[in-house]
Amino acid sequence: MVWQVKKFITEKISEIKQIVEEKKAVAATSGGVDSVTCAFLAHRALGEKLTVVFIDDGLMRQDEPINVSNELANLGVEVKLVDAKEDFFRALKGIEDPEEKRKKFRDTFYRVLGKVVKENKANYLIQGTIAADISETERGIKTQHNILEQIGIDPRKYGFQVIEPLREIYKPEVRDVARELGLPEEIYQRMPFPGPGLATRVIGEVNPERVEIVRKATRIVEEEIEELRPFQAFAVLMKDRATGMVGGKRVFGNIIVVRSVESQNAMTATVSRISWEILEKIQKRIIEKIPSVSKVLFDITPKPPSTIEYI
Ligand code: XMP
Repeated sequence: MVWQVKKFITEKISEIKQIVEEKKAVAATSGGVDSVTCAFLAHRALGEKLTVVFIDDGLMRQDEPINVSNELANLGVEVKLVDAKEDFFRALKGIEDPEEKRKKFRDTFYRVLGKVVKENKANYLIQGTIAADISETERGIKTQHNILEQIGIDPRKYGFQVIEPLREIYKPEVRDVARELGLPEEIYQRMPFPGPGLATRVIGEVNPERVEIVRKATRIVEEEIEELRPFQAFAVLMKDRATGMVGGKRVFGNIIVVRSVESQNAMTATVSRISWEILEKIQKRIIEKIPSVSKVLFDITPKPPSTIEYI
């Protein structure tokens, strides 16, 4: 099938209109290309009948909640911030198993959204699930946060029906749709960031203190690698610890892994060829800014056999 972006947009807008009719819908955005593109498509279709929300789950990168809402407001779409940090940290407390974390995240995410949908007297949730999310969940690789019906979960248990306008397309086509909708390059070329956010990058318990460590390290990795424009680059906090020396004293500190990969659609990935100078700079800044870290490693594993994220 030949990919026709204009035709896709026209069809999806009329499909959304037909389903929602005179009722109301909610779209959740994280600022990532999939959810922003989906929110803009839905906004074109529904105008005032759509409420766009940003769920602040406490697992976002530095300043992300406020930056995303300002960015979308400047593009003409108002975003309601929903502070749900406590709900997420309560749900994730004490959990270490990766799939268990993903399932807790998903359940909390949809319970919070269910409340928002009810408060807004809406019937539908419009979300930016893409083909890769469905495929990886169905193949049992990992439970993507935004998959429900495809694995037999009825979204009506959370109080809404789901519309997924992007479910047949992959990341490169989503970027085409975003460009065609007039979104700025800064959005459509943005690095993918997973729905469960920094929870996918904390091995062991996800709590505010540990998320803060990985948030600081992520900022440093992104700043130092940005000009290479990798598909994705980020930091991960390990559960293990390692001995190091700080101020001449022995410490048994945290381990941060730096990962940077190249990919088209996230189904396979190769490791970015980062220069030694950049890696060294990252290591120095992480050790200097995050005193609890005593080792910085670089991950050299492609996908497959690895996956991009760590849980
Ligand atoms: P993996 O780790 O499976 O990741 O190789 C493939 C791509 O998907 C992103 N990812 C997610 N995106 N919800 C999302 O919206 C999720 O639960 C999720 N898990 C992974 C990941 O960042 C990569 O781009």
